[in-house]
Amino acid sequence: MAEINFLCVHKKLRSKRLAPVMIKEVTRRVHLENIWQAAYTAGVVLPTPITTCQYWHRSLNPKKLIDVGFSRLGARMTMSRTIKLYKLPDSPATPGFRKMELRDIPAVTRLLRNYLSQFVVAPDFDDNDVEHWLLPTENVVDSYLVESPETHEITDFCSFYTLPSSILGNQNYSTLKAAYSYYNVSTKTPLLQLMNDALIVAKQKDFDVFNALDVMHNESFLKELKFGPGDGQLHYYLYNYRMRHAMRPSELGLVLL
Ligand SMILES: CC(C)(COP(=O)(O)OP(=O)(O)OC[C@H]1O[C@@H](n2cnc3c(N)ncnc32)[C@H](O)[C@@H]1OP(=O)(O)O)[C@@H](O)C(=O)NCCC(=O)NCCS
Repeated sequence: MAEINFLCVHKKLRSKRLAPVMIKEVTRRVHLENIWQAAYTAGVVLPTPITTCQYWHRSLNPKKLIDVGFSRLGARMTMSRTIKLYKLPDSPATPGFRKMELRDIPAVTRLLRNYLSQFVVAPDFDDNDVEHWLLPTENVVDSYLVESPETHEITDFCSFYTLPSSILGNQNYSTLKAAYSYYNVSTKTPLLQLMNDALIVAKQKDFDVFNALDVMHNESFLKELKFGPGDGQLHYYLYNYRMRHAMRPSELGLVLL
């Protein structure tokens, strides 16, 4: 199955029905590879979503987020109480928590394959995919893992990708630095603690907000780690594949970068 991503038409060429032309052409090229199914996501409603996910947002730099209008001060909240609410420790709490390296690829692939096999729809990663999509790349993807200090076994993994947004019409800021939760696997470290460490390293790296969809087991940490539900939805689609039932977001094991 192909994964289709990064559909984009130049602002000056919008609404000229170029998107359907590009979709037709990419479909033709995928068919030439003898591939007849594809997975894709969109914020817009098309025929027919396999599931619809919600974005949740965890403020890392609440003052900036409020200043630029991304979020608002809560009822009966002051700025200083808000800053205190979202404050995080300076460094991760889990012993053996470190950045993923090239030598970790086989262990991470094993962890991920094992974890993703439980979902109704999920990617089938091999070592090459893990190297391409998950090996840390500056300003693209960050991946961390837990290496047991005793056994040196790789027991847990978390990752997020970088996608900055332009801020229009603000005196003080021009970009919002957002991290997006990607693939996370916990076998020994509780997922809540692992994701709290992910928030801590994202804060260290100066991200303003940490976003996550309600896919996989994410619902188990969103509220507790002070994520708030956003107004953004993401619909998931399969091309030329009929699902007997619609799925719940928690049954989905796929996140597109
Ligand atoms: C998404 C984008 C490429 C659409 O191009 P556009 O110039 O606005 O629209 P066009 O006139 O070329 O095409 C309109 C058709 O494309 C469809 N379309 C729009 N967005 C789509 C998407 N994300 N995926 C598939 N089809 C899409 C519309 O439904 C419409 O088809 P219909 O009339 O049969 O319903 C363009 O708005 C864009 O580049 N946006 C910024 C990047 C982005 O959001 N990419 C999509 C990420 S999922």
